[in-house]
Amino acid sequence: MSIKETLIKNLKEKKACIAILGLGYVGLPLAVVFGEAGFKVTGIDPDARKVESLKRGVSYIPDVETEAISKLVNSGRLTSTTDFSILKEMDAVSICVPTPLRKTGDPDMSYIISAMEELAKYMHKGMVVVLESTTYPGTTRELLLPKLGMEHGLKVGEDWFLAFSPERVDPGREDFTTLNTPKVVGGITEACTEVASAWYAGAIQHIHSVTSAEAAEMAKLLENTFRMINIGLVNELAIMCERLGVDVWEVIEAAATKPFGFMKFTPGPGLGGHCIPIDPLYLSWKMKSFNYNARFIELASEINTNMPRYVVSRVLEAMNDRGKILKGSKVLVLGAAYKPDIDDVRESPALDVIGLLQKKGALVEYHDPYIPRIHHEYDGWQMDSVTDVMKAVKEADAVVIVTNHTTYDYKAIVDAAKFVFDSRNATVKFAKNSEKVVRL
Ligand SMILES: NC(=O)c1ccc[n+]([C@@H]2O[C@H](COP(=O)([O-])OP(=O)(O)OC[C@H]3O[C@@H](n4cnc5c(N)ncnc54)[C@H](O)[C@@H]3O)[C@@H](O)[C@H]2O)c1
Repeated sequence: MSIKETLIKNLKEKKACIAILGLGYVGLPLAVVFGEAGFKVTGIDPDARKVESLKRGVSYIPDVETEAISKLVNSGRLTSTTDFSILKEMDAVSICVPTPLRKTGDPDMSYIISAMEELAKYMHKGMVVVLESTTYPGTTRELLLPKLGMEHGLKVGEDWFLAFSPERVDPGREDFTTLNTPKVVGGITEACTEVASAWYAGAIQHIHSVTSAEAAEMAKLLENTFRMINIGLVNELAIMCERLGVDVWEVIEAAATKPFGFMKFTPGPGLGGHCIPIDPLYLSWKMKSFNYNARFIELASEINTNMPRYVVSRVLEAMNDRGKILKGSKVLVLGAAYKPDIDDVRESPALDVIGLLQKKGALVEYHDPYIPRIHHEYDGWQMDSVTDVMKAVKEADAVVIVTNHTTYDYKAIVDAAKFVFDSRNATVKFAKNSEKVVRL
């Protein structure tokens, strides 16, 4: 049997040893899916706290049940370590490390590079490596292939196999999870696609193979760029509607009754999370090396990035209309997570809204049921969530709804507040014509 056939056989029989590099929002659910499918999975992460938590059988990701972790840990199907040398025993490795932006807006590839350098020390024949981290097209071939294969004299597609498979997890979502969301897989060679697809098909319900790693990398960027640009469009629509005196939410609801050819997106205080504000910029960055300016991406990014400033200007204006000045006023920001019902504050527009309100002299507090403490990486401030939300609502001169968590009682909030700026249309059901509420 060839190396490829032996590896596919071991993967199909779940005898292959699986490693997941990076046990975060993407890596941990993936480790669980592989473990529950019968693979023996080793999670590797330099974060000792995460590893310790998993050893105790305790989850730290809201979408992953502690019960699922403890079952896998007790049955020996999930082990975790900070020691990368275990990679020498692994057959299949999935890389799920962060791909943020630098302060300059350029891709920060340092996590992929450090994971790759660790993995490079233990590369051997008969391995399959899949990169899951969202990145610019060409990363798998230009960065990973030379370091993991060529430098070791390993021939890709024969001695070892390399592919890209983008993660599509949507934190907080229950109908589509890692298990039942179709998985795109694209290899460096046809054999690479075959091996990686065979591996993933052992745990994930639908595999969609493409002919190259670049097609898989680009598919992920299309998905997220599509969202980013459409959000940019509705954000600009909100700005235009305000000038026209038209209710943007009503306009969107009306347009969304069209049963074909329209997809509903909603405006908000800005983009957040690890994906939508960031991933398209990986593509525009890459295109610069081809002397190409990705205009849609740049424009949508500009509009979306400006939304926290727009929200603050609307709060200021609305307070002015009520004879109040923002400077010295108590402002309560409701919700710090970048979207409802999750505990993820990465790139959240709440951080910018709070920072900008502070710069205008407002006395800002925030509440989030999922996030007890926040800090602004670049501006250096930190803040604790208020504990008694309704008391804070009553005391505030203005309440600014940034994240529409479903756990909030919006009726009680509007009743108790002096003034509410609602950037998410969370209060529409009962406060549409309320003098107290101004909506984006
Ligand atoms: N979170 C999402 O909703 C989501 C969805 C789709 C795709 N993605 C993409 O998946 C990738 C991972 O995102 P995430 O949200 O899981 O990030 P995360 O920050 O939650 O997790 C990443 C983990 O990698 C670990 N890590 C850092 N350096 C490492 C190294 N050298 N070796 C091994 N582990 C290392 C970190 O300690 C952390 O635990 C990113 O590229 C992201 O864009 C994320």
